[in-house]
Amino acid sequence: MTTITTTIPGRAGELLAALGDRAVLHDMYDAYGSQVYHGLSQHGDHEIRELLGIIRQLPGPVLDLAAGSGRLTMPFLAMGREVTALELSPSMLELLSARLDAGPAALRERCTVVPGDMSDFSLGRRFGAVVLGTTTVSLLDEAGRPGLYRSVREHLAEGGRFLLSTVEMDAARSGENEAEMIVPAGESTLRMYEYWAPGDAARTVTVFPGELDESGEGEVHVCTTTIGVLPADRLEAELAEAGFAVRARHPLPMAGVRHPSVLLEAEVIA
Ligand SMILES: C[S@@+](CC[C@H](N)C(=O)[O-])C[C@H]1O[C@@H](n2cnc3c(N)ncnc32)[C@H](O)[C@@H]1O
Repeated sequence: MTTITTTIPGRAGELLAALGDRAVLHDMYDAYGSQVYHGLSQHGDHEIRELLGIIRQLPGPVLDLAAGSGRLTMPFLAMGREVTALELSPSMLELLSARLDAGPAALRERCTVVPGDMSDFSLGRRFGAVVLGTTTVSLLDEAGRPGLYRSVREHLAEGGRFLLSTVEMDAARSGENEAEMIVPAGESTLRMYEYWAPGDAARTVTVFPGELDESGEGEVHVCTTTIGVLPADRLEAELAEAGFAVRARHPLPMAGVRHPSVLLEAEVIA
């Protein structure tokens, strides 16, 4: 699970310092942050078309790892698949369950929601596709990833695929080390900062309310997450060491972010 970076770099850190006691800092996936992430995810269809295209070719149920509030789970269900959604954050699990409860029974009945850690899980069954989308593999550090690969191997059916995405941080595209964006989230907007200096092992994403009165009064809720930088070549080498072969790299369309991401399609070989 991510931890809060108390020293947030760049303009986000300066803004946080300027807010002083007004600022209430959250991890992006805690009880408050999960609501914010859910609002953001309602406006994002990144990766969905590509994932559906691949999963359509694969028989069997789908395991959606680190499912969050179901941004990917729901379209997998909508295509008629049986889906197991595994997630660590209790607040994300609540949001996903509420979303399923509010939806059609036909979808809800095909979904199993499981609290669990993607770096060590045992569900006692196998899947045609195991998905770890939205560059979430980067939330695990070097110590956590071998457990993820081992657990995924134990859950892939013969011929099944492990589908995972990562961001290719590109120094040439960076320009400035920090980007500031106003992004839609639910019914409102957020001011999002992404900080990464070329060579840094991680990037930091921090969000403030879109309508922020910097000289006003009252609490300001700020959410942050630190995401490791894991280039596709490195991921592919780690997967090879864990007994996977990457059968395809699918470039993903840029989605209002500075850096391109790629979807790896891996299969167990050894
Ligand atoms: C970037 S979000 C992706 C959520 C969802 N898949 C989506 O596409 O919107 C990352 C998710 O990983 C979850 N997470 C973080 N560490 C985890 C772990 N060790 N095991 C399972 N889930 C984890 C977070 O709670 C969060 O919901």
